[in-house]
Amino acid sequence: MAKITTASLLNMKQQGEKISTITAYDASFAKLFDQAGIHAILIGDSLGMVLQGQDSTLPVTVEEMAYHTRSVKRGVEKSLIIADMPFMSYANQEQAIANAALLMQAGASMVKMEGGAWLNDTISALVERGIPVCAHLGLTPQSVNIFGGFKVQGRDNDKAQKMIDDAKALEAAGAQLLVLECIPASLGEAITKALTIPVIGIGAGKDTDGQILVMHDALGIACNYMPKFSRNFLQDTGDIKSAIALYISEVTAGNFPADEHTFK
Ligand code: KIV
Repeated sequence: MAKITTASLLNMKQQGEKISTITAYDASFAKLFDQAGIHAILIGDSLGMVLQGQDSTLPVTVEEMAYHTRSVKRGVEKSLIIADMPFMSYANQEQAIANAALLMQAGASMVKMEGGAWLNDTISALVERGIPVCAHLGLTPQSVNIFGGFKVQGRDNDKAQKMIDDAKALEAAGAQLLVLECIPASLGEAITKALTIPVIGIGAGKDTDGQILVMHDALGIACNYMPKFSRNFLQDTGDIKSAIALYISEVTAGNFPADEHTFK
């Protein structure tokens, strides 16, 4: 596999090839996933929950994200490295530029931010300065206190339409990738078809251009519970290398996610 860039992911969407991505937070797991052929690795602010045992992602800092990004970078040769911008690190454009620069200097090739069309100007400013952006819609965990819990989003028509409009606006602003989290599969499909850029789902059904899982969910080692949208690939295989190979092959074949992992 050649080194993966945003252009490679766009090409995969155009060719109808599924994109497999996963989170990692350290060099050892990142190396294993990279060698297995994963297309992109996200240093997710989910690390606040799965590494630190917090009950949300809100306490995670830019310094912590930069530390884990540096660690992941040392393990990766080919996968695209995406780093999450943590809570309140992109509340305004100046903060976003300064904090995204720190994560790029730590080794990311793209940063991810949660939110809709209010991010348009920030995304344009980052892209103009050479920082590729992955947008994130649906259940955006940094807004858990607005949602009143980790709940499926976009179930009513108005919210679904707003999400489609937001997705188009984010693409127009320059986002080169979009993550959709915990939404009905039909909405995941509609947004994927409406956009030119690749759309990666987590609990967004099988018709997005690719999938992402938190590594602790994919390996059945999350401290809290196994989300409906995940599958324990370690249980199906017995060792981590085979588990990741199975995850990639199931995504590639369109077998994961199955109906049981999907929201209606
Ligand atoms: O923080 C994270 O791991 C994420 C994924 C759930 C997409 O944002």
